[in-house]
Amino acid sequence: MTVGDPNSQKLRAGAIGDRRTSYDSFVISTLSPHLGAEVTGIDLSEPLSEDQYRDVHQVFADWGVVVFRDQILDREAHKAFGRNFGELHIHPMNHSHDSDAEILIVKTTAKSPYTAGDGWHSDVTCDEIPPLGSALYITETPECGGGDTLYANMGLAYDLLSPTMQAFLEGLTAVHDGAIPYVGNYNSTPPEGGYPRNEHPVITVHPITGRKILNVNSGFTSHIRGLRKWESEALLSSLYNFIATTPKLHCRVRWEPNTLTLWDNRCTQHHAVWDYYPHSRYGERVSIVSPQRPVGVS
Ligand code: SIN
Repeated sequence: MTVGDPNSQKLRAGAIGDRRTSYDSFVISTLSPHLGAEVTGIDLSEPLSEDQYRDVHQVFADWGVVVFRDQILDREAHKAFGRNFGELHIHPMNHSHDSDAEILIVKTTAKSPYTAGDGWHSDVTCDEIPPLGSALYITETPECGGGDTLYANMGLAYDLLSPTMQAFLEGLTAVHDGAIPYVGNYNSTPPEGGYPRNEHPVITVHPITGRKILNVNSGFTSHIRGLRKWESEALLSSLYNFIATTPKLHCRVRWEPNTLTLWDNRCTQHHAVWDYYPHSRYGERVSIVSPQRPVGVS
């Protein structure tokens, strides 16, 4: 594809792909033309029926970020919902000191030195096999409003790059280092053996949709292999800048108490906005283990 041809034109204008907008077992409204759907007409405290199971997987593949409002879930129901997608992940830095290792507490108060996820990132890409997705259940929202989460579509991010840049990035591998957020932001003591640190292709192929994905994130990616330090820094910072400053890539979830949002960690990034100090926000997250490592283009 070259600049000026009809495909390129469509991409620049933000053409909508062939994702579904109607499902048999619930109704959706989309958050943006490219990312995010809000589902109405399903109670996640009950096991999913066969039709709901099929449609929930389909809406997840189609829209990447799926919002369910007015859900009353105890931990078992929250975890059972996550298990529809696979085994639950244990976060390497589970700070909750809670007895349940599969639940990550997401809590911010006036006393918090930081809030989890306050910067563009995908979850735990320092792992050899980063989670397939996460389901965050927010039960307390700031009384002044705020505390939204922004999401970005990394398949569309890839599509919007020039063919020359796409081809260049497809040959590259990047290092993802847990020390960046866990020491840098959370000031934690390293676990025995150090923080996870792994390499992943810069462009991956989504295992379900087959879509190519831009797979670097400012939360974890330290550098690109084979480039000079200044080259890697320049390339990564321009990609991060592109992700953060291209609204077409984004959707925004405005939380209300008892909202659960499920996101596909393989093809999205997110940014939890801490704009509500000194108010509080509380939720619990489960993440789902992926059956495979991120796979490159060839
Ligand atoms: C995270 O999972 O990074 C936190 C997201 C949020 O609190 O909205």
